[in-house]
Amino acid sequence: MPTPLIAGNWKMNGSLNLVESFGQALADADLPSRLEVALMVPFPYLEPAARALAGTRAALGGQTLSDQPSGAFTGEVSGEMLRDVGARLVLVGHSERRTLFGEDDAAVLARVRRALDVGLTPVLCLGETLEERDAGRGEAVVIGQLEAVADALEADQRSRLVIAYEPVWAIGTGRTASPEQAQSVHAAIRRRLATYDDALAERVPLLYGGSMKADNAADLLAQPDIDGGLVGGASLKIDDFLAICQSAG
Ligand code: 13P
Repeated sequence: MPTPLIAGNWKMNGSLNLVESFGQALADADLPSRLEVALMVPFPYLEPAARALAGTRAALGGQTLSDQPSGAFTGEVSGEMLRDVGARLVLVGHSERRTLFGEDDAAVLARVRRALDVGLTPVLCLGETLEERDAGRGEAVVIGQLEAVADALEADQRSRLVIAYEPVWAIGTGRTASPEQAQSVHAAIRRRLATYDDALAERVPLLYGGSMKADNAADLLAQPDIDGGLVGGASLKIDDFLAICQSAG
């Protein structure tokens, strides 16, 4: 079973003060021994967060990256730059990137490849809309998003993925998927991974994201195929985030 991972995605939120507070709180926290923690902060806070989190158990992650290594791409940030300032992970294909910034499966695959090329762990986000779920296509959409990336990778590249299932209808809405709903999709993802390779299915951490909070995390994380969480809103409140970390131990 993969080591549990709780990753906070600050999205376009936070401040230098919050970075400092998290660094202090994580340094003082008595976290479960079998747990990985990561914080995905906005680009300007990566470098201060690298300093604030040094000596804590938390790894640092970016929220997206360019599909290009360098060059005339104003406003973009490369995987190499993320590595340079201490990031170890990067979100790819978050539903906000897919819907608000037009990233399709090909764009997601290109970014996963860039992340892998520079030694970042891509956290590949998958998720269906409410419309797709209501039409009975939720699982097919999620598996399709997975295949669009995983089919194109080599076996050793697939084994370096982290996958996050984030139903779009549960993100920022306060409407969490029930533990049973989430487990059912996670199990489908695990089964699909096993068709590439049984060891892969055992190894790749499957995170749930979508209104995960201190009071629902334990039930979600108790599911056999939920290995961790990708936490948005609750990752901006240190007490809530630490409580979620405790539930994962
Ligand atoms: P919320 O936890 O705010 O619903 O956000 C989930 C998410 O999108 C994490 O990437």
